[in-house]
Amino acid sequence: MNEAKKARVFSGIQPSGDIHIGNYLGAIKKWVDLIEEHDSIFCIVDDHAITVEYEAKKLPERTFEAAAAVMACGLDPSSDNCTLFVQSHVSAHTELTWLFNTITPLGSLFRMTQFKEKSRNALAKILAKESGEARSTVLHELKNTGLQTAEAIEALRPRIEALVPEADEVDEGLLAALNDGLGSVMQGLQVGLGVSGASTGLFDYPVLQAADILLYRASLVPVGEDQEQHLELCREIAGRFNKKFKKRIFPLAQRVPGEAPRIMGLDGKQKMSKSLNNHIGVLDPPKLVEKKIMRAFTDPQRVRREDPGRPEVCNIHRLHRFFSSPAQADELDEGCRQAAIGCGDCKKILAGNVNAALGPIRERADYLKAHPGDVIDALDQGAARCRTLAAQTMDEVHEAMGIGSKALHRFCK
Ligand code: TYM
Repeated sequence: MNEAKKARVFSGIQPSGDIHIGNYLGAIKKWVDLIEEHDSIFCIVDDHAITVEYEAKKLPERTFEAAAAVMACGLDPSSDNCTLFVQSHVSAHTELTWLFNTITPLGSLFRMTQFKEKSRNALAKILAKESGEARSTVLHELKNTGLQTAEAIEALRPRIEALVPEADEVDEGLLAALNDGLGSVMQGLQVGLGVSGASTGLFDYPVLQAADILLYRASLVPVGEDQEQHLELCREIAGRFNKKFKKRIFPLAQRVPGEAPRIMGLDGKQKMSKSLNNHIGVLDPPKLVEKKIMRAFTDPQRVRREDPGRPEVCNIHRLHRFFSSPAQADELDEGCRQAAIGCGDCKKILAGNVNAALGPIRERADYLKAHPGDVIDALDQGAARCRTLAAQTMDEVHEAMGIGSKALHRFCK
């Protein structure tokens, strides 16, 4: 492999369930395109997957399946420019995370919307199980708690303002009332945001992601739109490190958009996601794909067959744009507006086209599952190469930060 001068690509995927068409269209398809022209490193991020509830016994199988699925999608680690490995097989990822933690302000992490979303969803799942209520109801209640907390903060405003002008002579009674008020605001915020039960690892997730990218000094990161905020943090960390330690060690990595920045789930409400069970897995059997599509949400205003539809609000139409030919998608668009075609027929055509596109991926995945050695060998070789690259970066990081045995030995000479 020619290590020099090719812009480096890095991206990752969690082994936390079925790889779905959102992952494929938002990221993996782009990974495959970029390989030819770039030194490309791809990672199954198991250290990230353990930041939420998971079954340890099932994780090795999931990790294997994720690796086999991305290979089946077209990633070929035997080609010169492509490296695939498992994150936990290269321990420098977690080491660099710790070092980055020391220069990452808490405030930057509190801004991360994925942390708030994921922790709130996890809490809602637990509370729904305990109470027997629907998860959506519990989520709604949690959001309400957040709103009430905002009102409580508003109510505290006059007290805070009363304190400010006389900061030298603080009224003890007022201060005590303020403290009490703030205590309940903090509690409300934690419950409202769902962050109280979240792990520190989930909070720190974006720093680990920055370490993944910067360990290899990658400058291009093909990911879906939902990762943009994490990439901003990655640039913030790289910039801060370079400035603080007066060395330009890290690049400011940019997102490379995939074919679809954000694929919506079959519920039509939220983005397609493994945890929301609103997805089409790239390895779902044809019958299941058809069943899922036939049940999918469409234009809510098209109640009867003869009602004209609005393709611009229909997720099935959006999917036609990715899986059907432009001419067929245009024809279906027109047919829907004129009520010349019903949702059932439109869905059947989509299911046929999705199955045709996923067929070769399923075949390759079946082959790899029957030949697990091919996957394991690729992952072992990938990890070996990554350990070497990571060690070079860690040497420079240690040197810059004044830690590690080399710096101490030099001092003692
Ligand atoms: P993960 O496993 O959640 O998602 C993997 C990739 O799929 C994209 N994606 C989507 N794109 C479009 N529409 C959707 N509905 C959709 N759902 C998921 C994600 O944007 C992602 O590109 N944090 C990362 C994993 C990661 C990583 C990294 C990525 C860890 N370290 C370093 C890049 C670089 C994630 O969420 O993966």
